[in-house]
Amino acid sequence: MDLDSLKEWRRSHGCGELRAEHVGQEVILMGWVHRRRDHGGLIFIDLRDRTGVVQVVCHPQEPGAFLKAEKLRSEYVVAVRGLVRPRPPGTVNPKLATGEVEVEVREMRLLNRSKTPPFPIEDNLQVEEALRLKYRYLDLRRPEMQKILELRHEVTAAIRDFLREKGFWEVETPILTRSTPEGARDFLVPSRLQPGSFFALPQSPQLFKQILMVAGVERYFQIARCFRDEDLRADRQPEFTQLDLEMSFASREEILALVEELVAYLFKRILGQGISLPFPRLTFAEAMARYGTDRPDLRFALEIQDISSEVKGAGFKVFTRTVEEGGVVRAFCLPRGASYSRKELEELTQRAVSLGAQGLAWMAFTPEGVRSPIAKFFTPEGIERLQAKTGAKQGDLLIMVADKEEVAAAVLGALREELGRLHCLGDSPPWSFLWVLDFPLLEYDPGERRLTSVHHPFTMPREEDWPLLDKDPLKVRALSYDLVLNGVELGGGSIRIHRRDIQEKIFQLLGLPPEEVEDKFGFLLEAFEYGTPPHGGIALGLDRLVMLMAGRQTIRDCIAFPKTQSGTCLLTGAPAAVSAHQLEELHIKIYSPRENKKQAL
Ligand code: AMO
Ligand code: AMP
Repeated sequence: MDLDSLKEWRRSHGCGELRAEHVGQEVILMGWVHRRRDHGGLIFIDLRDRTGVVQVVCHPQEPGAFLKAEKLRSEYVVAVRGLVRPRPPGTVNPKLATGEVEVEVREMRLLNRSKTPPFPIEDNLQVEEALRLKYRYLDLRRPEMQKILELRHEVTAAIRDFLREKGFWEVETPILTRSTPEGARDFLVPSRLQPGSFFALPQSPQLFKQILMVAGVERYFQIARCFRDEDLRADRQPEFTQLDLEMSFASREEILALVEELVAYLFKRILGQGISLPFPRLTFAEAMARYGTDRPDLRFALEIQDISSEVKGAGFKVFTRTVEEGGVVRAFCLPRGASYSRKELEELTQRAVSLGAQGLAWMAFTPEGVRSPIAKFFTPEGIERLQAKTGAKQGDLLIMVADKEEVAAAVLGALREELGRLHCLGDSPPWSFLWVLDFPLLEYDPGERRLTSVHHPFTMPREEDWPLLDKDPLKVRALSYDLVLNGVELGGGSIRIHRRDIQEKIFQLLGLPPEEVEDKFGFLLEAFEYGTPPHGGIALGLDRLVMLMAGRQTIRDCIAFPKTQSGTCLLTGAPAAVSAHQLEELHIKIYSPRENKKQAL
């Protein structure tokens, strides 16, 4: 039934909007049959649209509507005309926003039918995600998913309002472009008009936003789609959205302050929650030493301590040898952990081993004394020194790992996060923001046997470290920053190189031959020669921000049409084969996987 032929039917309210103040009004509602119940000659329908649910009652005295109502099933689409009236005493539903009223139906139109949905349209659904993704349009009809879509819309609207007020211009940059190195594989698009040539989808708008600074835009932002062909996780998608921004003539301090103000504005306007500013800061080196990760979750303390000097003299060979060989022994204390059972401690050790440790040593400070497989190696004074260093009190569990520094940090960092989230979240503040500053500019990639950029190659090294670029490049710190929220990397950015000579120097350190630099980045280097202002910026992961604001565990819930872990779209069946004709036009020949293997040999 089309609505143009139903001239007098104009939707007057959303189902979820009706309240006691509407009693006595005639309304026209349109929506989906959420539930139908037959009760002693009356038919009750919970009618749902995106504003919510309202109870609609059909009486046999209105036979036209009643007969139609008898045939309704879940997810049928209907229009009803009726009178809002108070619910009879004793039938008010305080759980429902519209629970004080119901709509007595006068007339009804069936707008469309529905097959029985493969899962109920309700919150707290217990079905496989694959089914939800295949029927995403039904999944998105569920109130909790509609709330997330609305939240995301509110977030982007607020971002636009805020940045416009601060003088930023929204500029779109190309999707069909050249490779933008952000450390992932590119998605490529073959060119029909230039046989054998490919576009790359942008891993970020990085190069274009810097060119926009050369172009005198001064303050740019974009809600930008980015594409990265990398292994997927709960907080990673091959196609995702950044709030990308860039500023000319701004110091690092000014950029951090702007982002803090923006984030506080979003949380206040959308969640009604105050965020205290400024955010705490750690350098990368501090974060790694104290929390074993560059994105520590600071909702709980559980700080890691280096106990190498406290334990190296005790007679436990593993510790002594590790320290002698240049490694470290590190530990953190889990408050109230002394009651861990033998089995739980065994599981903890297995977890440490699966994270790459050789083993895990523990010490439980119980009322009966110290319980630990390595207690025998320590004198009472030795144990006291350990307690003084780590703050371990009676009732606590000390967790220790001896290994190379990176391994000890990584293992303890991961255990700290897992145990903290399990045991220490109760009354902690809900939002824990943190800046991590001064990442190393470069790291060594043993696979490629060369230096690579920790952030990206356009990041400015700290000026006081420039002399180290030749002498000790791994020691050079970058003018970079990451924004962390509750242990999730929410964003990253930096002050950029704006001089050709420094940029060339970095490419050289990365082992890029001059011809390749010229071919890939010649346009940027040339642009730098035409009066490039000092500039810097940041990109925040919009999907991750919405995920955290919505209290979800995965960004898939916060993207209308996400991809699966294996990078496919279950709704449309993408990626898919294409016709021989299309391939021919694109000058592409597909080898079967078998032929491919032969070629590689
Ligand atoms: P970076 O690579 O750190 O920086 O990305 C910025 C933020 O984008 C989010 N993000 C992702 N979200 C979902 N799925 C992914 N696969 C994914 N990859 C990244 C993260 C991350 O913090 N051009 C620079 C920014 C700059 O220097 O201004 C950049 O892209 O939240
Ligand atoms: P062993 O004497 O090797 O049986 O180890 C005694 C205890 O030390 C066991 O609980 C091991 O799990 C633990 N352990 C072994 N290697 C390490 C290590 N590298 N760091 C911390 N604890 C370890």
